[in-house]
Amino acid sequence: MRIAIFSAHSFEREFFAASNVTKKYDLVFFEANLSAKTASLADKFDVVCCFVTDKLDQETLRLIKKAGVRLIALRSAGYNNVDLEEASKLKIPIVRVPAYSPHAVAEYAVGLLLSLNRKIHRAYARVRELNFSLEGLMGFDLNGKTVGVIGTGRIGTVFATIMHGFGCKVIAFDPIPNLKLKEYRILEYVDLQTIFRNSHIISLHVPLLPTTKHLINAAALNQMKKGTIVINTGRGALLDAHALIESLKSGHLAGAALDVYEEEDGIFFKDLSDQVLQDDVLARLLTFPNVLVTSHQAFFTLEALTKIVETTFENISAFEEGKSLVNEVHISTHVKSS
Ligand code: NAI
Repeated sequence: MRIAIFSAHSFEREFFAASNVTKKYDLVFFEANLSAKTASLADKFDVVCCFVTDKLDQETLRLIKKAGVRLIALRSAGYNNVDLEEASKLKIPIVRVPAYSPHAVAEYAVGLLLSLNRKIHRAYARVRELNFSLEGLMGFDLNGKTVGVIGTGRIGTVFATIMHGFGCKVIAFDPIPNLKLKEYRILEYVDLQTIFRNSHIISLHVPLLPTTKHLINAAALNQMKKGTIVINTGRGALLDAHALIESLKSGHLAGAALDVYEEEDGIFFKDLSDQVLQDDVLARLLTFPNVLVTSHQAFFTLEALTKIVETTFENISAFEEGKSLVNEVHISTHVKSS
């Protein structure tokens, strides 16, 4: 099997190489994102292995079909970058990695919260300049505070459990509640308005769907208590960045920690340190002392990468051996993750 790995990051290669020792697939790594412009690179490959930054739209899918591609193996849970209808018409199956490490993302969200609240990111920079002053670094105890969790799937469940361990009161909203969380008294399910009105901290763990786009908009922000902190490790477009900026400027929101950004394509995962940032909204966000932005790295742990590569190879082997594709994405699969 010839496998073209698009959007290949240097950090992934050793994981693929280690897992391929027994498989001996013919792997070719391309740093380029897969799109209509780069689809010719997929010529004579059996499989394209894609990341969230690859654009599998109608044109690209038609081109890779012509090139001989028989399987799309996503190294992600989410597939909102794939035209599922077109892939189905072209009869190219799509497989994904539905879950790799909910702990990676949940723990990272907690890390962002701790850093933002206690200003660890600012203290780190300050001390390196030999400025040992505590001015402006005061945070608040998390113990006893109300944490609103939106989405209690795999990641939200871990996040809620950690916050419960911190002694927080956890309230959550999810159309499909996790009854175990209720039974173990980790949290209480409430409606969204109650989350907005009562939480000191709100963390987003829902997929990006038409119904969740800009879930946090001006109206939602206005309902929040003054001094609320918002954490987004879900998807950038869950949050309206323009409304966020207004809320931060007015001092209503106490801070935001963002691992994802609506317009992150073409920016995140890249070293642009020698360039002029063209995205004015992101540039504005980066000026706030109470905003922490990271480059979609919540998933980035040893365990998660190992699992992503293992599952990707399992998916490809199943296809090669004509077995059923347990991680196949069908048009009817509604939940879209990252
Ligand atoms: P999951 O599918 O296990 O859970 C999602 C939950 O959201 C489900 O319980 C679902 O019922 C709920 N939900 C759906 N619509 C909702 C709504 N309108 N309001 C409230 N809840 C709603 O997904 P998982 O694995 O927990 O991932 C959550 C999200 O985290 C992903 O969709 C993805 O966007 C993001 N993610 C981010 C990563 C990063 O590196 N920053 C890595 C992996 C995932």
